[in-house]
Amino acid sequence: MNKLKLPHLAHKDLISVHDLPIGDIQSIYETAATLKKHRDTLTEVLRHRKLALIFEKDSLRTRFTFDIGMQDMGGGAVFLDHRDARLGQREAIKDIARNLERWVHGIVVRTFKHRAVQELAEHCDIPVINGLSDLMHPCQALTDLFTLTERWGAVKGRRMVYVGDGNNTCHSLLHATAKLGMHITVCSPEGYEPNSKVVNEAMLAAQESGAEVRIVNDPKHVARGADVVYTDVWASMGQEDETEERAAVFLDYQVDEAMMAEARPGALFLHCLPAHRGAEVTAAVMDGPHSIVFDNAENRLHVQKAILALLLNDPRYQRKTKD
Ligand code: CP
Ligand code: NVA
Repeated sequence: MNKLKLPHLAHKDLISVHDLPIGDIQSIYETAATLKKHRDTLTEVLRHRKLALIFEKDSLRTRFTFDIGMQDMGGGAVFLDHRDARLGQREAIKDIARNLERWVHGIVVRTFKHRAVQELAEHCDIPVINGLSDLMHPCQALTDLFTLTERWGAVKGRRMVYVGDGNNTCHSLLHATAKLGMHITVCSPEGYEPNSKVVNEAMLAAQESGAEVRIVNDPKHVARGADVVYTDVWASMGQEDETEERAAVFLDYQVDEAMMAEARPGALFLHCLPAHRGAEVTAAVMDGPHSIVFDNAENRLHVQKAILALLLNDPRYQRKTKD
């Protein structure tokens, strides 16, 4: 335990990267690096702490890494899926929050409406972590930039080219790159660009960090100058009905070997996963030498362990008990 410093983060909850001061991102990364290095000895960091995992959408990585992360650090997790937890349907969100804070030390929620995550957080005194909403995927983007920092030493001044849908992953990447001084170009078909409020927030953060934020539509030669090319599914969870229509719209936005060949020598490929080979990325890129998607998937564990260690140990946000 003495290997691990646990500074207090600025906020109780982790709902959007936009809310995080840069110092907090650095604290998360330093903690993640230590937890990764001392994985087999730092096993008591969250002894006796419990986490609620409330998932209204499917998950492999997020569910596993939060659950295993708690177990790695001596704690435990309880999982509720959409059959047990329909936020605000069987029971008001504020009542769910008021129940959970009596039993557990933190909540990870994966849901549709971003507002539901905020509401849950507003009504309890324990930390709420956004495990993905329709608008944001903060733990993903924080991990992506941690992985790139591991590779390069720093991300400042490097360029990410995100090709595809202006979705939750893209939004959190805009926030994270802009904060950390990494240039980002988002290339989406017309009508599928990222949310303009998020783009404005990123542009504002970029003014401070020196990053450049570009939103473009033309995929031709877009990867030129990229240090990393990123893509995500064309139809996110909840958009299954649009899968065919989107496949036609996004046809020219596939990340293939020709696109990767235009990026800088040694450029990396990232995808948050799950990936659809033959759709947003070819099998050759996904399984080829540029791809670091599975190193990144591993890092979901280390980065989220850091988030848990920092938030669930904070004496300001402890489980409520009536004496
Ligand atoms: N990338 C990601 O969040 O994966 P899951 O949807 O499997 O959790
Ligand atoms: N944009 C995707 C990310 C999955 C991790 C979705 O929301 O389905």
